[in-house]
Amino acid sequence: MLGPPGAGKGTQATLIAENLKIPQISSGDLFRDHQDRDTELGRVARSYMKDGVLVPDKVTITMVMDWIEQNTGVGGFLLDGFPRTIGQAKALDQALANSGGIDLAIYVNVPETELIHRLSGRLVCSKCKTQYHTIFAPPSEPCICDKCMTELNQRDDDKPEAIKKRFQVYQEETAPLIGYYQVLGRLREVNGVGSIEKIGERLLRALD
Ligand code: AP5
Repeated sequence: MLGPPGAGKGTQATLIAENLKIPQISSGDLFRDHQDRDTELGRVARSYMKDGVLVPDKVTITMVMDWIEQNTGVGGFLLDGFPRTIGQAKALDQALANSGGIDLAIYVNVPETELIHRLSGRLVCSKCKTQYHTIFAPPSEPCICDKCMTELNQRDDDKPEAIKKRFQVYQEETAPLIGYYQVLGRLREVNGVGSIEKIGERLLRALD
């Protein structure tokens, strides 16, 4: 799943993985899990993520490759937010060379004004990590998780300065992957504006 910050990659990746019964991972979630457990990797990642810049390739590639190794032989998997640089894409191609590489890169296209609305209203449960949105997907009680009744927080990198930086980094380092996968004939572009259900249907059609 490829797309700018707030495109709905995480929301849709969870739904697709449930539908296709395959494991999925978000590199951002892996980093946040390390931060919650206060590992050395988590501390390194936090110093980059809070400012909205990418964690260095070497650290990211090792972490995601470990996850892939533990999840092979299960009929496929879905990566959300990885690869995010040409270096990461080449490392992934190399790692999957024996199985012909990834099947598809799905690019979720959403205009920047919509992305800003989505990111600035996002709330995340500090315990079970369920995501909400103040307007588009509000919890039943303000700032309380419907599932585990824990307090909801804003992500550090959803503050205005970090959002601006993430958009800039996306344009410079991640958007070139659209051309990379187009040349390989593996890109599918999906309109990421609309209801979560409608976008989910478009994505499943693109994957068919
Ligand atoms: P990461 O956590 O991957 O953040 P991101 O790519 O910026 O993506 P987001 O999680 O913000 O958005 P999303 O597209 O998943 O949208 P979501 O479904 O959440 O990465 C964070 C950081 O980690 C990076 O900046 C970097 O530092 C580091 N990192 C991660 N991967 C890396 C890598 N490979 N290499 C190096 N560094 C890496 O939706 C957003 C909001 O919109 C939610 O509130 C949701 O409820 C709402 N929403 C979703 N769909 C809709 C809809 N259709 N209509 C209305 N609202 C919607």
